Amino acid sequence: MSTASSPASPASAAHGEGASVPATALASGPLNGRVRVPGDKSVSHRALIFGLFAEGVTEITGLLEGEDVLNTAKACAALGAKVERLGEGHWRVTGVGSRGLSEPDAVLDFGNSGTGVRLMMGAVGGQPVTATFDGDASLRRRPMRRVLDPLREMGVAVVAEAEGGRLPLTLKGSVAPTALTYETPVPSAQVKSAVLLAGIGAPGNTVVIEREATRDHTERMLAHFGAHVSVEPHGPHGRRVTLEGGAKLKGAPVAVPADPSSAAFPLVAALLVPGSEVILTDVMMNAFRTGLIATLKEMGADIETLAERSEGGESVADLRVRHSRLKGVEVPAHRAPSMIDEYPVLAVAAAFAEGETIMRGLAELRVKESDRLAAVADGLAACGVSHRIEGDDLIVTGGGVRGGGPVKTHMDHRIAMAFLVMGLAAKEGVSVDDVSFIATSFPSFLPMMRGLGAEILA
Ligand code: S3P
Repeated sequence: MSTASSPASPASAAHGEGASVPATALASGPLNGRVRVPGDKSVSHRALIFGLFAEGVTEITGLLEGEDVLNTAKACAALGAKVERLGEGHWRVTGVGSRGLSEPDAVLDFGNSGTGVRLMMGAVGGQPVTATFDGDASLRRRPMRRVLDPLREMGVAVVAEAEGGRLPLTLKGSVAPTALTYETPVPSAQVKSAVLLAGIGAPGNTVVIEREATRDHTERMLAHFGAHVSVEPHGPHGRRVTLEGGAKLKGAPVAVPADPSSAAFPLVAALLVPGSEVILTDVMMNAFRTGLIATLKEMGADIETLAERSEGGESVADLRVRHSRLKGVEVPAHRAPSMIDEYPVLAVAAAFAEGETIMRGLAELRVKESDRLAAVADGLAACGVSHRIEGDDLIVTGGGVRGGGPVKTHMDHRIAMAFLVMGLAAKEGVSVDDVSFIATSFPSFLPMMRGLGAEILA
């Protein structure tokens, strides 16, 4: 898109729902090389949305050009921003200011992305515009009440919604949003962010209290764009975030670091394939995103931090990863928010570890792009890995992994990538039924993995 000033195109249709692309990962030789995975998905969505709200120009480098983020870019354009692609990952957003959103003349289609739609519902909710939100079959199954409930309290009207508070739905934003103090019932950065974004236009302080702290990219970006935000601890694992209302955001440059949730796939692959040594550069090391690295190190992983530095307000590092013998560990429930997207690939690592890995408190996995708890369990079963689910806990018993499949991916990019990683170290390789959704978050996954030495047939 050179200038994304046209209304959102139906991404879900363009995506070709139903046109599955199967693939097989074969047991591969050592993986070697130095790669930078694409930009962080969470930061990329937010950079565009803050660019929309800001006065003046926001220049973004390293933007993830995956389908999820491109849909957010189209939505920003439909809401009045000028959105231009200047080069690979290099985008310029000319914003409309905190009260300047225009009413879109078509449905905003967020494809597969829960982050895109939930953050944008918050953004629109705090503005006097009406908009309709939709997505693909996976997104239409996901719960939206977690965002609609606090937004209603702030004065947003839900004009139409599908059964159970699901997409497609239409919101009429508030002319004068009420500032709210809200304790999130589930640990969700998306819910926190929706409330804070709606609170930008509110007259008083908007406060979000989390019992379990989640990723803090929205708080950081609010401050970076000129809003007044303060954060205090709340209980042993929580935080209390206060945003002063009436903020006037000013455009600011954003350099997007490499996505730790995407880096997780080549990282675990390097740990599992004998003889491997891979360097992952510029990986974001935000403390609310590094639960997987902490867990893998407890399992005995050889992950060396080569150069930790601060770039664009985030800590980043190059990581050297070598093949390692892993042992099972217990992962506490309170760590889940800092690695919520990494459990599928951790389950794959656990399948190769010695002994049991117990992953506690995984209820939120049931409402991701798929029911990830069920999808992971079914995939493990299809590959001969012994495991069980007890309540919200997943317990995997490691050992020699047979592999096989086919693994059903249920429109879920991370299920597809995780089981392809398994195939690189499993005796029989692993087939997955559909790799097309990988394009939502990591479009270069297949060529990048092949460049490291992975044999993946698609
Ligand atoms: C995200 C938050 C997480 C995560 C998602 C990205 C974000 O979801 O799973 O991939 O950018 O805020 P929840 O906040 O709903 O847990």
